[in-house]
Amino acid sequence: MSRIAYVNGKYLPQRDAMVNVEDRGYQFADGIYEVIYLHDGRMIDVDLHLDRLERSLRELRLPAPMGRAALVYVLAETARRNRVSNGIVYIQITRGVSRRDHAFPADPVSPAFIVTARRTPPYPRDPAAWAASAITQPDQRWARCDIKTVGLTANVLAKQAAREKGAAEAFLIRDGMVTEGASTTVWIVDAEGRLRTRHLDHSVLPGCTRRALVAELRAEGIAFEERGVSEEELRSAREAFITSATSFVRPIIRLDGAPVGDGTVGAVTRRLFEIFARHVTGGLRNAA
Ligand code: PDD
Repeated sequence: MSRIAYVNGKYLPQRDAMVNVEDRGYQFADGIYEVIYLHDGRMIDVDLHLDRLERSLRELRLPAPMGRAALVYVLAETARRNRVSNGIVYIQITRGVSRRDHAFPADPVSPAFIVTARRTPPYPRDPAAWAASAITQPDQRWARCDIKTVGLTANVLAKQAAREKGAAEAFLIRDGMVTEGASTTVWIVDAEGRLRTRHLDHSVLPGCTRRALVAELRAEGIAFEERGVSEEELRSAREAFITSATSFVRPIIRLDGAPVGDGTVGAVTRRLFEIFARHVTGGLRNAA
C-alpha cells in the first residue's frame, strides 16, 4: 500500500507529494512541526501537542493553516488513509513559497501545511528491553529551543554522534548543565534519590510527554523537582530516563559507556514507565 500524505488541502500518494524548491521551510528552515503518537487509533496528548503547535506558530508569526477542529480531522484522516492505528502523525507548517529573501514575503502567502503518518513498532511492554544508552554532546543549538522549529541541524549532528557510538540519545550540555536530549526530555534520580528534570525556559522544548508525566506525578503524589541538572549530577545519578512522544518513558542505563547507577532499570524509572504505559494505553487522565 502506498503511503498517503496530506499536502495543502489534498491527500496524495507520498511519492507524488513534492515540495516547491522555493518553500521557505526548505530554504530557511522557516517552519515548525509536531510529532504525535497514536495508540489504538487515539492521538496521545493531542491537545498538549496542538497547544504547543499554536504557540510555535505565534512565536514565528506564522498564521494557522486552519482551525483546531479541522486540523484534528486532517490528522485523523491522514492516519486512517494510511491505516495507521499505532504509529506517529507528523505535522509540518512552513511560511510557504516565495522568491528567496530572508525577510517575510511582502505579499502574504499561504503557509505550506503537510501531514504524514506511519506505523511504529508496538508500545514497549518491558522497561528492561526498552532501556538504552546515551552519550553527552555539546549543545550547539540556537537561543530559542522552546520553539519546535524544523531547524534541527545541531540536533541531527548530536543524534548522529550518538548513533555512531551505538547510543539511542545524545544528552546536550551547555555551560556545564544538561539541557535536554537531541529529541527528548532528560530526567534523573539524583544521588540523593530526588526525581528531577530541568525547569522550562528558552533553552529547552517544553515536552508534551514531560507535561503529561508531571500531571501523573502530581496525581500519584510522587515528589519531583524542576531544576537544572549539572553534568556532574548527571554522572552521579542513580537513574536516568528520557521522555518524548516516541520514547514514552525510556530508561537510560549507560552514559558515555559507563553504567548509570548499577546499570539496570531503577525502581523509580520502572514505576514511571508503568504509570506512563497506563496513561497511553488506557485510564487517561487530562494533563494540567
Ligand atoms: N521530539 N526535546 C526535543 C529537542 C524534542 O525534539 C522533543 C520531541 C522533546 C520531547 O517532546 P515531546 O514529549 O512533546 O515529544 C524534547 C520529537 C518526538 C521529534 O523530533 O521526533
